[in-house]
Amino acid sequence: KKNQKASLIEVVRWAENEFHQFLMDSPQAEAARRYLYEDRGFTDETILQFRMGYHPGGWDWLIGRAQNKFSPKQLFEARLARQRNEGEGYYDDFRQRVMFPIRNDKGDPVAFGGRILPGLANEGQPKYLNSADSEIFSKSELLYGFHVAKEAIRKSEVAVVVEGYTDAITLHQYGICNVVGTLGVALTEPHVKLLRRFARKKMVLVYDGDDAGRNATERSISQFLSHDVDLRILILPEGQDPAEYIEENGPESLQNLLDNAPEALEYKYQICRERNSDTLHGREKSLDEMLDLIRLSSNIKGTLKEDLILNRLSQRLSVNESVLRQKLVEKR
Ligand code: CTP
Ligand code: MN
Ligand code: MN
Ligand code: MN
Ligand code: MN
Repeated sequence: KKNQKASLIEVVRWAENEFHQFLMDSPQAEAARRYLYEDRGFTDETILQFRMGYHPGGWDWLIGRAQNKFSPKQLFEARLARQRNEGEGYYDDFRQRVMFPIRNDKGDPVAFGGRILPGLANEGQPKYLNSADSEIFSKSELLYGFHVAKEAIRKSEVAVVVEGYTDAITLHQYGICNVVGTLGVALTEPHVKLLRRFARKKMVLVYDGDDAGRNATERSISQFLSHDVDLRILILPEGQDPAEYIEENGPESLQNLLDNAPEALEYKYQICRERNSDTLHGREKSLDEMLDLIRLSSNIKGTLKEDLILNRLSQRLSVNESVLRQKLVEKR
């Protein structure tokens, strides 16, 4: 099993080099280079550090290059090729995409994210594509950039969590290095477990300022109550993501927002109040949502943390604490 994993990593490492060399050297990668350097503003150093690459298109570009090295079946096991629906054989999973290698916490490449280039004839295709889960890659457990951010997180005792590779890389390039990305998903329990050993002070979640980002933020919050982690939430101006914000306002401005991001429960409370009106009914609904959050958080039942939360909630909503407790018991 261990050998099998090691050999899959070798396949991914080989593909990473193919994509990277092609991006750097080939005349066919001109549009991809323009996209990365000009549109995204990445420097040479950044492109080399994160070893971005390019797949120029074609159904068997990678399979062809793998001849005499790896079989299509091995590429399939590394989630770089797919089985044809009809007939035999395989085809390249990523085609005509800028490739971002995704590494595990040791720094081994285990998967890819691929982004389409703007303006190409690839309508109807998703903008981002990630490798499917495999023997060596589990999307819901991996944090993009962890192996490069680890030292900065340890030193500052703060971890910043963004939606994905482009945001993480851009913040890195601007010198904010304690950043990791979830791959377009809400934060999960394995993510928190991985981070909390290093982020002893706090974690700041900074997803996109759009509906998807705000929904993922809310889904992430309950993961934290049961862990001894101080989660802060930063919501960016409508329509902006961390990369866009830092390009427009600079790293000091973003750092300032990060430093002052409100606590997760405070944030949750605020959005409950915004969502529900300030009538009796609205308040009851807010209270209900807050109690659901507490109920869903495993392990906090009967703890000091639960006490503090209920106490604060009772003050904010002007409701007797014993009534809150009673309601919580009923819910459980
Ligand atoms: N992402 C992902 N899988 C998806 C969607 C998104 O892994 N299915 C990750 C990517 O790493 C991406 C990040 O989430 O960089 C943000 O996604 P999104 O907000 O949709 O991308 P945009 O910011 O709109 O993309 P861009 O700036 O490249 O136009
Ligand atoms: Mn850096
Ligand atoms: Mn988005
Ligand atoms: Mn975005
Ligand atoms: Mn973006």
